[in-house]
Amino acid sequence: MIENSKIGEAMTIKLSEELPEKKEFEEGIRRAPKRELTLTKREKKMALKNALRYIPQALHEELASEFLNELDTMGRIYGYRYRPAGRIYGKPIDQYKGNCIEGKAIQVMIENNLDFEIALYPYELVTYGETGQVCQNWMQYRLIKRYLERLTDEQTLVVASGHPLGLFKSSKASPRVILTNSLMVGLFDNQKDWHRAVALGVANYGQMTAGGWMYIGPQGIVHGTFNTLLNAGRKQLGIPDDSDLTGHLFISSGLGGMSGAQGKAVKIANGVGIIAEVDHSRIQTRKNQGWIDAIYEEPAEVFKAAEEYRKEEKAVSLAFYGNIIDLLEYAVNENIKIELLSDQTSCHVPYDGGYCPQGLTFSERTEMLRENKEQFKDLVTRSLKKHFSLIRQLVDKGTYFFDYGNSFMKAVFDAGAKAIAKNGKDTSEGFIFPSYVEDIMGPMLFDYGYGPFRWVCLSGRHEDLLKTDRAAMNCINPDRRGQDRDNYIWIRDADSNKLVVGTQARILYQDAEGRKNIALKFNAMVRKGTIGPVMLGRDHHDTGGTDSPFRETANIKDGSNIMADMATHCFAGNSARGMSMVALHNGGGVGIGKAINGGFGLVLDGSERVDTIIQKAIPWDVMGGVARRAWAGNDNAVSTSIDYNVENQATDHITIPYRVDEKIINELL
Ligand SMILES: NC(=O)c1ccc[n+]([C@@H]2O[C@H](COP(=O)([O-])OP(=O)(O)OC[C@H]3O[C@@H](n4cnc5c(N)ncnc54)[C@H](O)[C@@H]3O)[C@@H](O)[C@H]2O)c1
Repeated sequence: MIENSKIGEAMTIKLSEELPEKKEFEEGIRRAPKRELTLTKREKKMALKNALRYIPQALHEELASEFLNELDTMGRIYGYRYRPAGRIYGKPIDQYKGNCIEGKAIQVMIENNLDFEIALYPYELVTYGETGQVCQNWMQYRLIKRYLERLTDEQTLVVASGHPLGLFKSSKASPRVILTNSLMVGLFDNQKDWHRAVALGVANYGQMTAGGWMYIGPQGIVHGTFNTLLNAGRKQLGIPDDSDLTGHLFISSGLGGMSGAQGKAVKIANGVGIIAEVDHSRIQTRKNQGWIDAIYEEPAEVFKAAEEYRKEEKAVSLAFYGNIIDLLEYAVNENIKIELLSDQTSCHVPYDGGYCPQGLTFSERTEMLRENKEQFKDLVTRSLKKHFSLIRQLVDKGTYFFDYGNSFMKAVFDAGAKAIAKNGKDTSEGFIFPSYVEDIMGPMLFDYGYGPFRWVCLSGRHEDLLKTDRAAMNCINPDRRGQDRDNYIWIRDADSNKLVVGTQARILYQDAEGRKNIALKFNAMVRKGTIGPVMLGRDHHDTGGTDSPFRETANIKDGSNIMADMATHCFAGNSARGMSMVALHNGGGVGIGKAINGGFGLVLDGSERVDTIIQKAIPWDVMGGVARRAWAGNDNAVSTSIDYNVENQATDHITIPYRVDEKIINELL
């Protein structure tokens, strides 16, 4: 066996020989529940070896028992001792060490994802979505930081499920970081094998921007939720295109990482919202932020208050501290009219703590998860079925229910309520309720290329953010399309809506042309010194970034919704065109095996090199998705592609499908 001394000598980037101090856990910071642990004795030994291989030999004896204890009590080895003491947060870029601007910028993004103010379970490196982690453990975090401090603009850091594989020579035109999370070989691409892989320490659930290091706090989803609610209202409640949700009621559940956006979004859309949440600490976080106006504990009281606000046409966001099932049961029994209804509990992992069954408080849920998983599973299954039955009764009375991308309908189906499937048997023909992408976001936004473009002002200065808001607004023509008008209003009011949590970040839905123009404008501003450097990116949940038949590609109807070519091409193409950071994940918002999704980060340093990347990469990042949506036959994507071919004759060309007359086919079959 090769000696450890030789191995240590062969590395200059490594963890220290010194044992870090054991840290206290700060009171009041949310902690992850114990995760499912089904490893055999042999596999547990492997998990320990896997974690200890980051650490110099002299520390193994002491840490082995500590890590075993973490595995037994938390279901994972997080290496808590390796977490730096105190608060971690995204600081101004010039406070970071590094040999290139991208190395420093990416540290800002990682640390923002781990901020106590932002992360769901910061000690367990979970940013949002119950299980979405930056990386698997604190040893990886420390090593990644060291690599980023060393990274030059002619190297690429490769990170596999949180593990920094190493630095490899590349060029100035290459990505500085390539990330993948939980990509599994098809045969093993299922919950059971994935659970084993995570417990062994070889897989990380990246969600989307958690492991893709582009999370910007709940603001990231506020804009999409605002767009969705507004358009749901226009489509279902007869609200005119230039109007909003004034005097209309929206009900949902979840005030967590992403779901926390719902309260804010409904208020920006001028509606009345009631959001149910079982965890009081999360309600309090949103209340402190000003995203929730008042908290109620009785269904009767919250409905009464909502009705008064609705009549007065006052925008308000109310939290119901309790289970969504209790709230809906009351509405059914009392015959209360709910206009718009959704759900944003973490149904991509209902049996791992993402969904709180009726009858349990949040702390009882956490205890039962730890003590009696089987009983917990049984309660979740029963609750999901009841939840479904209540929704059906409401829908029969005129409620518009839509799945909001949390795999709710799939979870109900998996719980045994086959009636939620269109064909009553399997999910091949979809579900009886629309997913928000199928009905709203797909045709109205993604098919045109509108998606969650975002940026972070790396200087940390609010005045930089204000300058970018104004510059972006000036790039939008509000009279071009309805979507542009909504986006114009969004960015015009963004600062007064107080959306920033964590770094100075902004989200703005834009199409390919809009994103490119804004990016070029920002880069020119950096060049002139008007603002400091900017990190540009997007959510994976976008036109071309994600293949997910139950969500982003729910409105792909040519049978290709089970393929993951688009997200893979998007990732490869962004890499080839020199985005600073590229990511590809399995899972995302809907769960392992149900989606492949990717994203990017691009550091605007003011250079002409970056202008060239913007010109090549940004249109590709969006139009690859539009082209695929057009090929599936989606009308708005076809018309967008026709325009694109005309406008970009010299450089680009999209294959567009001929329409087939159904009559010819129907005569044959
Ligand atoms: N539509 C989108 O664009 C989008 C984007 C990101 C995430 N998601 C999905 O949305 C879901 C929520 O994401 P998140 O980041 O907010 O997760 P989260 O786990 O932080 O929040 C979910 C919240 O739901 C609460 N909850 C669970 N069961 C409940 C019940 N029965 N009644 C009331 N409250 C209950 C939990 O206490 C938690 O606070 C995830 O499945 C995620 O994958 C959707």
